[in-house]
Amino acid sequence: MPLHLGAAWYPEHWPETRWGEDVKLMRDAGLTVVRVGEFAWSSLEPREGAFNLGWLERAIALAADHGLAVVIGTPTAAPPAWMTQAYPDVLAVNADGRPATHGTRCHYDVTSERYLAFCRRIAEKLAICFGHDAHVIGWQIDNEYNTVSYSEDARRAFQNWLRQRYGSLDALNAAWATAYWSQTYSDWTQIPLPIQGTHGFGQPHNPALRLKWRQFITEAYRRFQLNQIEVIRANATPSQWITHNFMGFFDGFDHYVLSADLDFASWDQYYPAGHLDFAHDSAGHDLTRGFKRKNFWLIETQPGSVNWAPINSAQDRGETRAAAWNAVAHGAEAVCYWQWRNALNGQEQYHGSLIAPDGDPRPIYAEISRTGREFRQAGHLFDDTSVEASVAVLHSYEDRWALDFQRHHADFDPLQYLVSFYRPLSRRNIAVDVLSTRAMLDGYKLVIAAPHILDEAIANELIRFVEGGGHLVLGVRSGMKTPDNALRPQRQPALLQAIAGAHVEEYYALREPVDIKSMIRSNETGKRPKLLPAGTAHTWAEWLVPRRDTAVLARYGASNGWLDGQAAITMHTHSPSGGTAYMVGAWLDDALQDSLIGWIVAQAGVEPVLPGLPASVHVMRRGQAYILINNAEPKSVTLPWRAKDHLSGKTARRFMLEPWDVVVATRV
Ligand code: GLA
Repeated sequence: MPLHLGAAWYPEHWPETRWGEDVKLMRDAGLTVVRVGEFAWSSLEPREGAFNLGWLERAIALAADHGLAVVIGTPTAAPPAWMTQAYPDVLAVNADGRPATHGTRCHYDVTSERYLAFCRRIAEKLAICFGHDAHVIGWQIDNEYNTVSYSEDARRAFQNWLRQRYGSLDALNAAWATAYWSQTYSDWTQIPLPIQGTHGFGQPHNPALRLKWRQFITEAYRRFQLNQIEVIRANATPSQWITHNFMGFFDGFDHYVLSADLDFASWDQYYPAGHLDFAHDSAGHDLTRGFKRKNFWLIETQPGSVNWAPINSAQDRGETRAAAWNAVAHGAEAVCYWQWRNALNGQEQYHGSLIAPDGDPRPIYAEISRTGREFRQAGHLFDDTSVEASVAVLHSYEDRWALDFQRHHADFDPLQYLVSFYRPLSRRNIAVDVLSTRAMLDGYKLVIAAPHILDEAIANELIRFVEGGGHLVLGVRSGMKTPDNALRPQRQPALLQAIAGAHVEEYYALREPVDIKSMIRSNETGKRPKLLPAGTAHTWAEWLVPRRDTAVLARYGASNGWLDGQAAITMHTHSPSGGTAYMVGAWLDDALQDSLIGWIVAQAGVEPVLPGLPASVHVMRRGQAYILINNAEPKSVTLPWRAKDHLSGKTARRFMLEPWDVVVATRV
């Protein structure tokens, strides 16, 4: 696949006489792809059963005439007014029982059979019309799935889904411990929808019910997606691929499950906080690459600014280009801007775009055009390449849901906890795969996991990994729960006790940080070993009990009496493989976490992509190409060898990187 640069184009927002200026400017900017059609249902089917695809045919032909490939987004995130008026049962119902109001988007009920039939029909019409159009390279189903509906359709479907899953109410009652608070069900129709949190009645619903509801939502979206995939596959040539634009770390459903039916995953990355943060933003790329362990499309990103942040500041000059290259560095096959040109009215008037309402380029157009030229120039370096990582950080939606339902400490944000492991790796320019806790782990040197929900399959793979010589870091709250979100009848980390060489005697939610003194001597090459600095635990601390053959790497200082002097971090080495399991029993402060991960990385023999770069310079490798990206300060970089920069054409060992500058280097 070539490296694509693209934009979301909404020809239906403008008279056809204006389309010519759009596509000409797209071509001039070096765009190679446009996405059309998502949200255009009222233009494609203005009245029930009356289809009007002619304008889209003409728009696609015009784009093709200007050398642009086309991705069609199915319009199903925006059901038209004729439909919601005639069939209000297609509307999503909120937790208070009120149906959505027409006039926004994503207002559909994903469990409505009627809605699915409408979606199937419009997707089929599009597939029949464009499924063999050589200029259409792929399809995006819907747009950013997100709405949850508490309708009667949803209730019935959920109850049926539970019946299929558990087979009998006895099995469900036992797994959910429903005798607790007299929840015992004697009829499937008694099972409620877990109306979030309190809703006036004080107490949340059963954690098992809540977890199953999220899994059910996942299955509902999977069915919704498959409903359209089926008709597209049946009518389109096999070379047209199918994707969906996910939203990074959004946790409304299990993205691994939905990705299974796609050719590849895509995502929409925005920077509402203003600036590119290599650790935070790269984690989203690595996550999306992990959905299918395959490169992805960045199918939406901001051309400068968004319109929905508290302050919609523009990225710095050069930063939009840097962000595009960062996506490529982490496995993007395409970078597409949202959007090409604003509609004159509608909810997103203020959003960044390449073209202003007068049809002329905005200032950002020149920067994006530069990226377009560079993609053409250097894109071939990335053909058939991806990121090669020897570290995996494991991630699970079920764990995040379960932890969020019962944080036990208000600040225990499972996503922030995961990022606390990712950040020290990113800071060291170590390539990371973010993978499902259910992934196979062959080939990795270091795996970081905190499998809160643990079953035998997950445990066996982690055990196999350590027995095979791998280094495993186990975070807090590992091994607490079963797949029904019930407590496991063992001490943490339950099925992993033997491989960890330790167990958790007790856990504590911390109001105040607790001192931690490490016994670890630094292992940096070329430096005299010295003790890693002391630090603190915050939010969460576990009292670890090591086995006799397990080393204690750090202990708690004086705190609540319970933790005083107890083991906080342990290390157990498996013989004869040398595989090692570290239990990190506390959420460590940033500095201690950073030095601990740095130490473990060296123990595991993990190397950075390039050593010795200034802290502000991020580097990733794809194939033979090293992509170096600077942040806001100018920096001089000396590479270990002479290299050619494929963007500037310069060959040297030393490169001067201006703020947000990019070098794409191959060794010469
Ligand atoms: C989302 C949507 C787009 C657009 C952008 C604006 O990602 O998919 O349609 O609304 O946000 O940032």
